[in-house]
Amino acid sequence: MELLEEIDNRRSCRSLRDHRFTDEEVTLLLRAACAAPSSKNRQAWKIMPACGRDLGLLADVFERAVDDRHSRGLLSDGEHAGCVSTARIMREAPLGLIVFTDPVGTVESRQQSVGAMMESMCLQAEHMGLSTLWVCDILDAREECEGLLHQEGLSAMLLVGEGKDDGRRAMHKEPGEVIVDFPGEHRLERFEKNE
Ligand SMILES: Cc1cc2nc3c(=O)[nH]c(=O)nc-3n(C[C@H](O)[C@H](O)[C@H](O)COP(=O)(O)O)c2cc1C
Repeated sequence: MELLEEIDNRRSCRSLRDHRFTDEEVTLLLRAACAAPSSKNRQAWKIMPACGRDLGLLADVFERAVDDRHSRGLLSDGEHAGCVSTARIMREAPLGLIVFTDPVGTVESRQQSVGAMMESMCLQAEHMGLSTLWVCDILDAREECEGLLHQEGLSAMLLVGEGKDDGRRAMHKEPGEVIVDFPGEHRLERFEKNE
């Protein structure tokens, strides 16, 4: 399959079926993470694999914390509903890769480095015929989740499993929609705009 086809096929999956992960499969995902580019090649991340009961425990702590924030008016109804749905998906997912970052460099460079690493794992999973959900909702309960996990620097989580395709596709922009012209005389005319 063409690389672009695999990139295009990747979709966030919110219904992850059980999958019995082998050590080799988890290692392949971690190798993809380790191959990602990072700011100053710091690779300032750690990944905690979690499954089954442990992932359920994290989902419980997360959901209790967001319920509490919602009842205190710190989360909107919509944000709360999204978090409750994420907690359900976490309980069903066979594997969660929880990502922590060290506080080095600028916030932006850390965020971009983690983003590159997460996408690398998403694409490797896609290549292995698995589906993923990239989760940042857990950051709404960062302190509580970090407390449970005895780690600081919680940044994201990747849920991985066998996806039930519900046929829904998020709309993605066309290349022509993301281009802004370089100012002045020297803009690159050879890129055709898709207007
Ligand atoms: C940084 C980041 C955080 C995300 N966090 C969540 C999340 O917490 N819960 C969720 O359901 N989806 C989450 N997503 C998935 C996005 O909603 C999804 O990528 C977007 O809607 C586009 O859909 P697609 O991934 O199917 O192309 C996240 C994606 C990214 C890149």
